[in-house]
Order: sequence, then C-alpha cells, then structure tokens
Amino acid sequence: MKNFTVNTKICFGEKALDRLLTLEYRKVLVIADPFVVTSGLITQVTDRLQKAGITYEVYDDVVPDPPMEKVVGGIRVALQQRPACLIAIGGGSAIDLSKSVRKFAGEIDPVFRPQLIAIPTTSGTGSEVTSFAVITDPEKGVKYPLSEESMIPDEAILDEELVKSVPATITADTGMDVMTHAFEAYVSVNNNEFSAALAEKAVEICGQFLLRSFSDSGDSHARRKMHIASCLAGLAFNSASLGLNHGMAHQLGATFHISHGRANAILLPYMIEYNSGIDMHSKSKAEYPPCVRKYCNMARILGVSNFNEITTIRALVSYVQFMNKEMNIPLSVSALGSISEEDYNSKIEFMAEMALKDGCTATNPRTPTKQEVMELYRKIW
Ligand SMILES: NC(=O)c1ccc[n+]([C@@H]2O[C@H](COP(=O)([O-])OP(=O)(O)OC[C@H]3O[C@@H](n4cnc5c(N)ncnc54)[C@H](O)[C@@H]3O)[C@@H](O)[C@H]2O)c1
Ligand SMILES: [Fe+2]
Repeated sequence: MKNFTVNTKICFGEKALDRLLTLEYRKVLVIADPFVVTSGLITQVTDRLQKAGITYEVYDDVVPDPPMEKVVGGIRVALQQRPACLIAIGGGSAIDLSKSVRKFAGEIDPVFRPQLIAIPTTSGTGSEVTSFAVITDPEKGVKYPLSEESMIPDEAILDEELVKSVPATITADTGMDVMTHAFEAYVSVNNNEFSAALAEKAVEICGQFLLRSFSDSGDSHARRKMHIASCLAGLAFNSASLGLNHGMAHQLGATFHISHGRANAILLPYMIEYNSGIDMHSKSKAEYPPCVRKYCNMARILGVSNFNEITTIRALVSYVQFMNKEMNIPLSVSALGSISEEDYNSKIEFMAEMALKDGCTATNPRTPTKQEVMELYRKIW
C-alpha cells in the first residue's frame, strides 16, 4: 500500500505573511538566517508578531550547511525559552536547523513539542514541506540527511517579497536544486502519480521562469512562480525521495564546500546520461530502462523532445548544460577554480563510499557500484 499525505498547511500568494497576524501562540522563537536579520528582512516577521501581541526571541546563529554544533545552540535556547512555536526564516540551512532543533529538543524533553512554521527566503530546497534535514559534520567531511515524518513543518509561508534580495548566483544554484529535485523525484523508484504530477509542474515552471528570475531579481511574477516550484518539487521528493545526484552532491558539499544547488547542477547532465544509459556514442535500441520514458516526458515539458529516445535524451542533457551556462554555473568541478586536482582525486574514493551510504541514493533508478560512482566523480572533474 502507498499513501500520499501533505502534512503542511501552505499559505501563499499576496500578503501570505499576514498569516502571522492570526497566530494563536503567545510566545515564539524565531530561528533566522543572519542575512535575514542584518538586511532587516526579519522585520517583515517581527513587526507582524508585535502587532499580534506575540512575544518572541530571535536565534540567528545559523550558517550554510549547518553543523550539529549550531543545532545544539538552538536546542539550548529552545529549551530555555520553551516557545509554543518555532518560526524558521531563511534558506534551507535555517529551516533544516530549526527542524533538527525541534526533533532533538523533543527527544531531550518529550513534553516539549512546539509547532513549526517555515518561511523560506530562497527558492530551492523545498525544506518547508519535507521530512528531511541535512546536517553536516565538518570534521569528518560528511553530510547527514536526517529523515523523519515528525520533522515536517506544520505550516509553510511562501511570500515572494522575501526572495527578491537573493543574488543571481544563489538564484541560479537554488533554481537548479529545484530542477534536480523534480528530475530525481520523477525517476525515483518510489515515484507515484501524485509525486509525478508535482514534479512535472515544478519542471514546467523552472523552464518558464528560472531564467527570468535569474536575469531580473525584481520580476515578482517569476519570483512567485519559482517560489511555488520549489515547494512543489519539495512535495514531490518528500513522497518519492531523491537519487544518486543528491547522494553525490552531499559529498561535494561536505568535502569541498560547493554550494548544494551548484553541486547538483554540475552533476545533473551526467546523471541523466548514467541513469538512461545513453551517452553521445549510443545507438538506438529496441528497449530502454523505464527512466528513459520519464526523462523523455520531462524533455517534452521543456520543449526539447522529438520522436527518438536517444536524440531526446541528448537534447535534455544539452538543455541542462545550456541552463548552467546561461546562469554562469561552471560545467565541471575544475572550472570552479577553487579545488586542486590532486586534492579532488584523493577524495574520490571516500566520497563514492559515502554517496553509496547516503539515504537519497537508495531510490535512484539505476543501482550504482562504487566503481561507477568513482567514475562519475572523475567525469565531472
Ligand atoms: N531539507 C531538505 O529537504 C533539503 C533539500 C535540499 C537541500 N537541503 C539543504 O539546504 C541547504 C541549502 O539551502 P539553500 O540552498 O536554501 O541555501 P542556504 O540556506 O545555505 O543559504 C545560502 C546563502 O543565501 C543567503 N540567503 C538566504 N536568503 C536570502 C535572501 N532572501 N537574500 C539574500 N541572500 C539570502 C544565506 O545567508 C546564505 O549565505 C544545504 O545544507 C542543503 O543540504 C535541504
Ligand atoms: Fe537539494
């Protein structure tokens, strides 16, 4: 038996943040990305809390790819303050940290079970509706995706006003994260009709609006659409899970501090080739693996399909590379210019081992061997 549940109430559209005016909690803890505090974006939340007569504290010791140490700081504050609700505002890092704070604080003190409202300020991870949180161990160089139903936020507020300040590079990286979520959920071995519908819509929006968001940060319509696409793709992979692309990207993030979306973007063309078994030398076959039909559907939605599987897959790979090029995302790890080849090569075997253990890899449509994963890491160099 399968089931599909949306556990998060989603407020979106004009003045979505006004939902905060109607909260019934008297005391909340706001966990915020430091940019949200220094830029003053946080007043969009705190002004409304004041207006609603709600007392609040702000915890902003959040860093990208949050380590356990920062989660512990948040747990300490949460257990001291004992708010009725946590409000997470920021990118995936702030939201993942808040989800982990609620989980671990509740394990320490089972009576403490605050509500969680997630307000994303990037259009990327979909963390506002997922049961996943990614915590990094910087010493071991490993990212751990935690996954548990109880981590799903109770509410998500999608307000595009909060993403207009996102610079072009982060718009590009997070936008390609959305596209990767949709692709991976769509071809996952756990895919179903519900997750597929969400992934298709997310990809359609990326095709129409990602470049518009990238080239004009003030384009409200494009920003709103990408914010919704991020959430749709989050719902898709919350149901179907992800795949090897994320399993490998997590290791690139943990080992070389490549941003999450950028690591996914560099890997995605190679992953489509690997999963479909179609590269530039392939010849037509009578039969293809089932994911080929799915990739061809995505190609159709993006307007790059034709009647032959091989030419369609090649067009899809080129399309993803085109998107990366248009948004100045390097096509290889070496082109990032920040990592030495020797250092990279010395980490390939460890990264491959960790990628195989990563929870996302289990639902990849093709079961990879360690040698294949090492080869993929070499290809993206
Ligand atoms: N929980 C999930 O389901 C899930 C899914 C995918 C990725 N992740 C994780 O989420 C993290 C990545 O999240 P992310 O891509 O949103 O980036 P992020 O949260 O790490 O933020 C990236 C940068 O953007 C800045 N920023 C955030 N909002 C901004 C705004 N409105 N204007 C200007 N700058 C802004 C932040 O200060 C930060 O410097 C990684 O740790 C990744 O592993 C989680
Ligand atoms: Fe992701």
